[in-house]
Amino acid sequence: MAISPLKNSALEAIKRAQNLAELEASYKAYLGKKGELTLILRSLANLSETERKAQGKEANDLRDLLEKRFAERKKEVQREEIVIQEKLAIREHVDVTAPGKRLPKGHLHPLTLVQKKAEEIFQSMGFAIAQGPEIETEWYNFDALNIPANHPARDMWDTFWLKPKNAGYLLRTHTSPVQIRYMEKHNPPLRIIAPGRIFRYEATDASHEFNFYQLEGLMVGKEVSVANFKAIIQEFYRQFFDKPVSIRLRPSYFPFTEPSFEVDMRWGKGSPRGEAGKWLEMMGAGIVHPNVFRAVGYIPAEWRGFAFGMGLDRLAMMKYQIPDIRLLYSGDLRFLQQF
Ligand code: PHE
Repeated sequence: MAISPLKNSALEAIKRAQNLAELEASYKAYLGKKGELTLILRSLANLSETERKAQGKEANDLRDLLEKRFAERKKEVQREEIVIQEKLAIREHVDVTAPGKRLPKGHLHPLTLVQKKAEEIFQSMGFAIAQGPEIETEWYNFDALNIPANHPARDMWDTFWLKPKNAGYLLRTHTSPVQIRYMEKHNPPLRIIAPGRIFRYEATDASHEFNFYQLEGLMVGKEVSVANFKAIIQEFYRQFFDKPVSIRLRPSYFPFTEPSFEVDMRWGKGSPRGEAGKWLEMMGAGIVHPNVFRAVGYIPAEWRGFAFGMGLDRLAMMKYQIPDIRLLYSGDLRFLQQF
């Protein structure tokens, strides 16, 4: 074989060798006793002097080069084999009796827990769950709830209006528009709750957020009364806090209920900010205003209902003794991992 192709194939074989055995075999094929290059070197003796000089130098240089390359590659392959051996050793030493690594487990946000619990209790009392959009129209959020444009009662809800304002879109300021949406599509009698996120254009502090959660309630029938409302709410709180709680109704004003009231609950021991024994405002409520029934096409003389809207954040704060509403929206794991 001529020298030059021999050189190429030998260098290629060195590069390709993946382990000592392969490298050994290649070495033997070129430089062993009957190796290709060895045979060439040996045959030099039979050549004429000029040919021997020319070919001899080339062949000897190649031998030196290959010896060097084989030695280098041998070191590399040895190093690689050590790494592989180490890896295998580790794999073989898996201790099947060692305790496994515990994967971190996700969990529900306190507000979600509270919402689920509330849904469960109201469903057990025959209430269906209704939903509505967070972007509302002026009609559903205000007009249909007996709060016409320019009515001073609109100031009760600091509103995020969407641009342009005259388009009449806003972020709902309460869950009460779901009352309207549901009654438009369903005939009485009915009982629903509508939990959801709401938005107020307000400064934040320990008890105010610009978005929070409400749970709306609506029950419409032939003879629905304030007594029914009180009994249902009392039972809800009893189940929610897992003990009897004291509540009181206080006269109030909402355009969509008449009469209207505020429901207060008495703080027990262990209140987060030292309110023990004080009355705390829990929700707005009342008997559905005839104009609300008119807005959805019900005949006011035929139906009676109560409605209420409670703050889920406050409920969570009371249940878990959370002192600051902003913690619920902070995303702080030191807080969240406690639930
Ligand atoms: N929507 C009222 C609020 O956000 C609460 C409410 C609901 C009052 C239903 C009466 C009846 O303040």
